[in-house]
Amino acid sequence: MSGTPRPPLSRRQLLKGSLALAACAGRLRPDWAWAEDSRTRPAPAGEPEITRWALLSDTHVAADPQDHYHAFYPYRNLQEVIAQIACDPPDGLVITGDLARLKGKREDYQNFRTLLTPIDRRPIYLGLGNHDDRDGFFRVFPDRCEHPGIVKNKHITLAQAGPVRMIVLDTLLKVNGLLGRLGDSQRTWLETVLQSCDDRPTILFLHHAPHMNLLDRRRLFEIIKPQGKIKAVVSGHSHRYEYSEVAGIHLISLPSTGYTIWSDAPVGWVDAKLTARGGEFTLHAFEGDCTLDGHTHTLRWRA
Ligand SMILES: [Fe+2]
Repeated sequence: MSGTPRPPLSRRQLLKGSLALAACAGRLRPDWAWAEDSRTRPAPAGEPEITRWALLSDTHVAADPQDHYHAFYPYRNLQEVIAQIACDPPDGLVITGDLARLKGKREDYQNFRTLLTPIDRRPIYLGLGNHDDRDGFFRVFPDRCEHPGIVKNKHITLAQAGPVRMIVLDTLLKVNGLLGRLGDSQRTWLETVLQSCDDRPTILFLHHAPHMNLLDRRRLFEIIKPQGKIKAVVSGHSHRYEYSEVAGIHLISLPSTGYTIWSDAPVGWVDAKLTARGGEFTLHAFEGDCTLDGHTHTLRWRA
């Protein structure tokens, strides 16, 4: 399946984006928090409130729609995923980084943004990974700058989605490097937020899986282990679909929508139904190992 990319942004649009970026940079404050309230459908009487989200990762969209890794074509794969999601749109999407192919070129993000068009009326929260570049990203998503970064040089989202709180962190350390890091300022911000917010179940999203290439994972867990409101950490990076648990905190590793290097890993996305008590996570796999396609993993949040 192939698609017709939108024409590139005009010079005027790019200028507007650059000005927004500059204005944003001037407003960055470490103590500034952006909170967005994503409305969800009301629960029927007697039923727990549910919010339904599509969880994606490692889209790896390139400037060239024909770019491929072995037999995997990330551009057409994301096109397929968005078509699947658009058939029954959830309340929103979270995409945990490596949005771009390798170096976060502006043209990568232009294609990426175009591919999201069919569902872009829903909230879409975007994390950044080691194959992203903040400058390229903000040039194509200048609207993200209208909600300026909470921590300087980090792109963070704090949002409420019905019964749960979502926090999308930024582990991008070096473009096209391998390692990730939250950094002192982001960890301090996270700790402050968690100490001051209510006990609503909270899910962290970040690109680097805590057990894989995240330099300050020990300090992250020192912050989140004592905070009972943290129920799960959702990540990408590994291009594997896995569940594990640390101190009662569920660790969910999302598959890539673009490609995988593992013979036993799916390529696809996860449909998540979230309540205050737990979540149901259904895999939609369409390439790679599709053995678990349609399988639902049920998690209960720690007390
Ligand atoms: Fe990746």
